[in-house]
Amino acid sequence: MIKAVIFDLDGVLVTTDELHYLAWKSLADDLGITTFTKEDNVRQRGVSRMASLEIVLEKTPTKYTDEQKLELAEKKNTIYVKSLEGLSAEDLLPGVKDFIAFLKVKSIKTAIGSASKNTPMILEKTGIKYDFDAISCGLDTTKSKPDPEVFLIAAQKLGLKPTECVVIEDSDAGIQAAKNGGMYAVAVGAAMNNPLADYKAESIDSWDYRNCDLFM
Ligand code: BG6
Ligand code: MG
Repeated sequence: MIKAVIFDLDGVLVTTDELHYLAWKSLADDLGITTFTKEDNVRQRGVSRMASLEIVLEKTPTKYTDEQKLELAEKKNTIYVKSLEGLSAEDLLPGVKDFIAFLKVKSIKTAIGSASKNTPMILEKTGIKYDFDAISCGLDTTKSKPDPEVFLIAAQKLGLKPTECVVIEDSDAGIQAAKNGGMYAVAVGAAMNNPLADYKAESIDSWDYRNCDLFM
């Protein structure tokens, strides 16, 4: 049996994936980029802020210096953080609280493994900060998913081996990162069809985890 579940945050626990998209779309509009779409945003899932920016900039022939890129990333983050103002427990995805309660009953540890540097603020606003035994996020890492760093740090903080952990992810980069780190991977949402995943479900809410061999 596994000993811990490491959750991605945006799009797995909270609806903030949509807010990321809207903030990038707003930045793209400001830059005169009209061709940035939801399909482009799928590739932004799971990857760092700077890597996400590069996906927007693929859509323009304009070349930006590293300094300008930092300014653009900061600008997007200001838009994004503003959109988090009204975030609350109502923005948790369906079934999340029940699943965490199920894991507590089973004495399975829980952690966050998210690329986002806004993780502490989001956990605070949604009221789930104290539901996790460890938090690993963009503030702890130097490498973006698909590098496994963020999940390995989570396992280390829990005092567990990678093989004792399962990652739940909605991004292809995150599923790849979990497998690169030697962990089990559950793909939900946008990553649901990822062939590398060990388990797949449309969402946490629709996943029959009570009958999953991971938890038996
Ligand atoms: C991930 C999102 O969780 O966090 C990415 O899926 C985002 O789309 C990344 O770019 C970094 O987030 P932040 O909040 O540090 O800009
Ligand atoms: Mg995600």
